[in-house]
Amino acid sequence: MSTEPGTSSAPETSAAGTPSAPEATVTETTSPGTPSAPETTAARYERFAAAEARGESAVYAGWATGVAADAELLAAIDELPPQRRQPALLFAVSRLVGAPVGDFGPWREFVLDHWPLVRAEALVRLTQTNEPLRCAALMPVLAAIPGPIALLEVGASAGLCLYPDRFSYRYDGGEPLHPVDGPSAVLLECATNGLVPPPERLPQIVWRAGIDLAPLDVASDDDSRWLETLIWPEQTARLARLRAAMEIARADPPLLVAGDVTEALPGLAARAPTGATLVVVSSGVLVYVVRAERERFVRAVEALDARWLSLEAAGLFPSVVSGLEAATGLNHEQLRGRFALALDGDPLAFVAPHGDRIDWLPRG
Ligand SMILES: C[S@@+](CC[C@H](N)C(=O)[O-])C[C@H]1O[C@@H](n2cnc3c(N)ncnc32)[C@H](O)[C@@H]1O
Repeated sequence: MSTEPGTSSAPETSAAGTPSAPEATVTETTSPGTPSAPETTAARYERFAAAEARGESAVYAGWATGVAADAELLAAIDELPPQRRQPALLFAVSRLVGAPVGDFGPWREFVLDHWPLVRAEALVRLTQTNEPLRCAALMPVLAAIPGPIALLEVGASAGLCLYPDRFSYRYDGGEPLHPVDGPSAVLLECATNGLVPPPERLPQIVWRAGIDLAPLDVASDDDSRWLETLIWPEQTARLARLRAAMEIARADPPLLVAGDVTEALPGLAARAPTGATLVVVSSGVLVYVVRAERERFVRAVEALDARWLSLEAAGLFPSVVSGLEAATGLNHEQLRGRFALALDGDPLAFVAPHGDRIDWLPRG
């Protein structure tokens, strides 16, 4: 979703309850402001090629550049609802239905020839990329919270980030930190900068549960294939990590409930065991929730006896924005495209959107 490489803005969802792509028509500013004018589809694909796919996927960059200059494809894409026009979604569904991965020409021909199929998938699929590597950015904070921990993730996708205690971690190429029962098939590598508190041991997680509007089931071949297709073509290390994490989840499936981050939260939180510290995690999800709903979410978390650990676009929450501004001197505009790690709404670090880098904030 928006947390795909290079996401540059916090989008509004297009309709309540529909996790739209981060392409929605209105770009949100970090403070009440004037929405910018909607971007044309051609401009959106050009921007995707230049700012998001470049350096991440030559194939997607080529497709996006080609689309931006192709009147026939642009006309077809523009018939989709705005939140369904996003490049990452279109490219993934095209691959799902068999488009050749390579040069723009053959891909274009396939997509136009099979447009009804591509369109049908684009209308029902969501970009639900599940990135276990985000656990590497969360871990220094999670490990410092007194446990045992009951972990509840909102916007959990397939729930792969609900297994932070089952992954191995290596920070700055140092000694790896392993689960209590030994090295994991998933090794998460993360670079750090600043005074990141090194996790000494992995937390004890006694309960794990997630909420998603449309939870994906790693036991389902269709859902697994979709999760794999959401990984961009050249990202082979990500794909290997995803597959290994899916194996871990299949061996001990998570409790996932279908619902909205706010609506479903109190009910699921009430199922957490007593005697454990409830930690609500949100990573790469609240960007899909409109501002008023986000505020409701914050109130719902605050009403719980819980900690709230977030890895989200830096501009989403006033408390995070003001904390970042105070710590760094950056202004709203300079926070665009940055992601922040925060505990209970207090920012602690800038992080890479996929979790492979932590820049701890200086503390005065
Ligand atoms: C980018 S994925 C992130 C998944 C996971 N948190 C991670 O970091 O790998 C965002 C997920 O949030 C879900 N989502 C979006 N809006 C939601 C809402 N209002 N309530 C519940 N889930 C939502 C989507 O379905 C999707 O699976």
